[in-house]
Amino acid sequence: MPVPVLRHFLRDDDLSPAEQAEVLDLAAAMKRAPYDAKPLAGPQSVAMIFDKPTLRTQVSFGAGIAELGGNPMLVEGKLAGIGVRESVEDVARVLGRQVSVVVWRTFHQSDLDTMAAHAGVPVVNALTDDFHPCQLIADLLTVREHKGDLAGLTVAFVGDGACNMGNSWLLAGATAGMHVRVSAPEGFMPSQAMFDRAHEIARGTGGSATAEPDPKTAVDGADVVVTDTWISMGKEREEGARAAAFAAYSVDADLLACAGPDAIVLHCLPAYRGKEISAEVLEGPQSAVWDEAENRRHAQKAVLAWLLRTKEGALLR
Ligand code: NVA
Repeated sequence: MPVPVLRHFLRDDDLSPAEQAEVLDLAAAMKRAPYDAKPLAGPQSVAMIFDKPTLRTQVSFGAGIAELGGNPMLVEGKLAGIGVRESVEDVARVLGRQVSVVVWRTFHQSDLDTMAAHAGVPVVNALTDDFHPCQLIADLLTVREHKGDLAGLTVAFVGDGACNMGNSWLLAGATAGMHVRVSAPEGFMPSQAMFDRAHEIARGTGGSATAEPDPKTAVDGADVVVTDTWISMGKEREEGARAAAFAAYSVDADLLACAGPDAIVLHCLPAYRGKEISAEVLEGPQSAVWDEAENRRHAQKAVLAWLLRTKEGALLR
């Protein structure tokens, strides 16, 4: 009897390099052909809780859970009053008695950690202030489709490096053996602790992680150019100051020319044309953002199947 292992996906480095590759292979296989195994058959329910706005995450998890034979259950964060009406610990214990997986978008990573510590079922980070790991599986899948093997590729993340996407690119890119350059204005680089963790991972994978304040230098020769909104959810009050700080960090045709014609452009969306990305680049031939948006579903199906596999001890094929 295989030993059941309870695993969570709370941050990008929860997956080892081999595990990340396994999840990406599974996602690619699920995209290529219908997945016959239904790891959520029953149907088992998956609780999806959103404390911040969502479009792609809710829809791609909802559709993906149904495709895995499960029941996507939207739990109203505000009605549940998690951490307000009752503690995260108590909510976790109750959810774990009802559903097979908890998918949660919230603010504090520490709340997600608490949920995972008490739920008794896999918990998946559907975005926190600190990380967006499901997006990164979709992004890496998209890069693989356009560029082949990830190891050795160079990615330039341009914009707000201190947000969830900057952090996730550092850790997931390093895990994949990529060279991750983060280009951000002063005060918006990922923390030193995040770089230290990326360096630690990169030592084992042959990747690298560097801070490069000049966007043209960062993008020079890159295989992948990534950006994200300058005003992440929850930062709306800083809009004025941020617009000024980031003015030189817009991914437009001039900046993209430094990467060359074979580079692809990613953006997790929603996109603000004329701010972090020009309409010309977003709609242009180097943009892979619509593939990237589709890949959320394939990526998250693979994450769910993989987590359930580790719980049950055998990968359902
Ligand atoms: N950094 C963005 C990502 C949106 C998917 C945010 O947190 O709002």
